[in-house]
Amino acid sequence: MKILLAGGAGYIGSHTAVALLEAGHQVVVLDNYDNSSPEAIHRVEELTGKKVSLYEGDATDHKRVLDLMQREQPDCVIHFAGLKAVGESIEQPLRYYRNNIDTTLTLLESMAETGCKKIVFSSSATVYGAENAAPCHELMPKGSCTNPYGWTKSMMEQILQDAAVADKDLSVVLLRYFNPIGAHESGRIGENPRGIPNNLMPYVTQVAVGKREKLTVFGGDYDTPDGTCLRDYIHVMDLAEGHVKAVEFGANHTGVDIINLGTGQPYSVLDIVHTFQEVNGIKVNYEIGPRRSGDLPVVYADASKAQKVLGWQAKRTLADMCRDSWNWQKNNPDGYE
Ligand code: NAD
Ligand code: UFG
Repeated sequence: MKILLAGGAGYIGSHTAVALLEAGHQVVVLDNYDNSSPEAIHRVEELTGKKVSLYEGDATDHKRVLDLMQREQPDCVIHFAGLKAVGESIEQPLRYYRNNIDTTLTLLESMAETGCKKIVFSSSATVYGAENAAPCHELMPKGSCTNPYGWTKSMMEQILQDAAVADKDLSVVLLRYFNPIGAHESGRIGENPRGIPNNLMPYVTQVAVGKREKLTVFGGDYDTPDGTCLRDYIHVMDLAEGHVKAVEFGANHTGVDIINLGTGQPYSVLDIVHTFQEVNGIKVNYEIGPRRSGDLPVVYADASKAQKVLGWQAKRTLADMCRDSWNWQKNNPDGYE
């Protein structure tokens, strides 16, 4: 199949490109490089020995997207194109709503105009909200989000579901990611956050490489075994392989399917720090600080549906995630620059 990856130069998109190419699919990428670099895709080509059709452009630009879709005629779209920083979304809500909702509408309209009927969407565990106790199951009603980023995901899910009601030939797979970390085992592609990282693992690796002085663990007094929050960390290459399965599933399917991509195994913030230190033999300075507003104590997936429907299960361990994150960071201290 030929797959269009909107936002495909980013962290998850570039790893998914590798997995799709290795599974024998063709890959087209559209990205405005708002949070990425074309170098990621050059490295995808180097790793796989295969060519990617790479377009610079905005997924909210209808003419650009339509021209590209008419020319490339993809069988399926994977929609990664979005802004994702939770704190920034609180400061700049309109930018988040404009970009994230508009990319979704523009992609869906261009698909309708060119007869493309398959879409896989990057959603998030955040849509379960505070109302649902872990493990999060796809049949649970969505909850309320604590920030505009989360609301854009919830709204985009709704838009995609409504589009599938109106067009019975449409196939929509909503993938709810838990916490992707790690990097391709080659160390050639990985997560490349701009500025101070918001997420745990890039912060840990930047402390380890000497770019930041110490990690602040947000809260040590939660009702969890070691007092720090529990999350479902998933290796980005497992996540990428989940996308290959989702695309192949969508090819013979219509309607909407919601699927969690997680491991089902929660780990604490201190588990991450300790495993990272042990596996890599490097010290990570940290201190326990106050809680971060909006954090839930425990979030992890019921991962059984992905196994049943996609025949997919995460294979890589927390040690693999910590080793590969560090391998990427130490070999690319300044990311793709
Ligand atoms: P990322 O920022 O690395 O990738 C997103 C890509 O989209 C970037 O390359 C960015 O330049 C591009 N982009 C943004 N707006 C665009 C636009 N208007 N037109 C074209 N390109 C645009 O982020 P990621 O971690 O790879 O996440 C991919 C998707 O998965 C996002 O939608 C994100 O919200 C979602 N997600 C990520 C996580 C996570 O923890 N990384 C968790 C849940 C969901
Ligand atoms: N954490 C720290 N210190 C840091 C950064 C994070 O202690 O410097 C802790 C957080 O408090 C949390 C855990 O590490 O307990 C993971 O935090 P992340 O920011 O890496 O991830 P979140 O679980 O907060 O958020 C992630 C994605 C969001 C998504 C959300 C859904 O980044 O996109 O999962 O649960 F919406």
